Amino acid sequence: MLLLILLFTLTYLAIYYYFKQRFCYWTRRSVPNLEPSIPFGNISPPWKNIPPAVQYVNFYKEFKARRQKHGGVYLFGKPMYIPVDAELVRNILVKDFQYFSGRGIHFNSERQQCLDNLFFLDGPRWKTLRQKLTPTFTSGKMKMMFNTMLDCTGPLLKKMNEMADSNEVIDIKDMLAKFTTDVIGSCAFGIECNSFETADSDFRKYGKSVFEENAFKALKMMLAFNYENLAKKLRITILDKDVENFFVKISTETYNYRVRNNIKRKDFMQILIELKEVEKSLTMKELISQVFGFFVAGFDTSAATLTFCLLELACNYDIQDKLREEIFDVLYEYNGEITYEALHEMKYMDQVINETLRKYPVVSMILRKCTQDYQVPFSNSVIEKGTFTIISAMGLHRDPEYFPNPEKFDPDRFSDANLSKIRTGSYLPFGDGPRICIGMRFGMMQVKICLITLLKNFEFSLNSQTKMPPELDFGFITTAKGGVWLNCQKLNKDLLQ
Ligand code: HEM
Repeated sequence: MLLLILLFTLTYLAIYYYFKQRFCYWTRRSVPNLEPSIPFGNISPPWKNIPPAVQYVNFYKEFKARRQKHGGVYLFGKPMYIPVDAELVRNILVKDFQYFSGRGIHFNSERQQCLDNLFFLDGPRWKTLRQKLTPTFTSGKMKMMFNTMLDCTGPLLKKMNEMADSNEVIDIKDMLAKFTTDVIGSCAFGIECNSFETADSDFRKYGKSVFEENAFKALKMMLAFNYENLAKKLRITILDKDVENFFVKISTETYNYRVRNNIKRKDFMQILIELKEVEKSLTMKELISQVFGFFVAGFDTSAATLTFCLLELACNYDIQDKLREEIFDVLYEYNGEITYEALHEMKYMDQVINETLRKYPVVSMILRKCTQDYQVPFSNSVIEKGTFTIISAMGLHRDPEYFPNPEKFDPDRFSDANLSKIRTGSYLPFGDGPRICIGMRFGMMQVKICLITLLKNFEFSLNSQTKMPPELDFGFITTAKGGVWLNCQKLNKDLLQ
């Protein structure tokens, strides 16, 4: 018994001293930090179920309230660096990118078939791939895909008309997720997903389950994000086998069919096939990984942006009317046709989308891993190679110093007259620097095409089933919790009158 007590005491002391020692890390580096507690550090215990994105907004606010430009926290014993000051953020992402070029998510590349994509890769492999894929997203390539994308508005419009005719309340979130699944299915795989016809198409089903969370998945993600070596030793994989099998099968079949039958389409798959077949600069695994990466990065981000945008428009009639007026005015010049050129003339549209992503940054945390010791410009602190760095886009976007009255939805913040007032580094809907979202143009085009289609045909108002402000679901991507219910009325206005 005595031995047991002794063993227990020694273990307790060892753990206690381990953490005490770990928790001196930031003080030793002269980085302001929050008081941690054993064993969780600064994160809240898992049973409190507070999403990481919310915790990092809170850290941001805490350091900001103390007028600190940066700070350090602990996730268990692991130090995490939190830049707060917009100029420092900008330096980390852009000017001093060579010190922070990693994303730092460990994913056991050898055991996963779909994850050798831009989002997950680091180091020279990321750099080479980014160079190869950058030409995939030029405005020329977007123009080429424009009509493929526009075709996907047909089923959306048909469904919306049916529902408006029968005076049904619309779950716009579900509707938009179906639209963006159709778009990315068509543009990435060259496949018609028919999301509006099928209750839960395979693309929707497997696409959704990539982001679905459960305790086991959360634990694996936590290890993959934060404990690279342990994740490696435990051979942790972060993608479910059935999801992986589905995407590998569908990409391989599409690829084989198109190469064998010499079928050419105006989509991502075509560009990737050419990179592999003609330029010989892509392996099959890389091709599958990119298609999967575009699918995952493309459909939920755009659907969430559209949902938040329509929700705000349904609550702000003046903004909805003003945007509709712009759409009518511009399309009038194009004989009522939605064209690539028309999209780019809609200035107020840009303001509305920018403000949506300001208030609701759907990717609310920007992740970097320090890849070389970094001397923080305004202090004597050095951030050590290997340190995880988390920038809270949500913290910055809702910081009243950068965006006064941050809860107000005000597209005029992004008018030509006001643009210069936005502090560099404070607005990061697509990240920034060499790792900025590669699909930004594609995402914006998809959002614009959808908004034009909907606003030129329907008027939206908030249904009482939906609360405003919406409750947010902070997963990997920030979405509105539950359904988003809007009333929708058909417009009887002829565009060319
Ligand atoms: C409104 C829609 C979208 C939003 C708000 C969004 C946002 C973001 C953000 C914040 C990042 C992290 C950037 C950083 O670390 O600095 C990112 C990365 C990325 N996004 Fe998007 N995204 C959108 C649509 C898309 C689409 C449509 C695609 C592909 C077709 C895409 C592909 C990617 C990829 C591949 C990366 C990783 C880039 C790299 O690390 O080099 N995104 N996105």
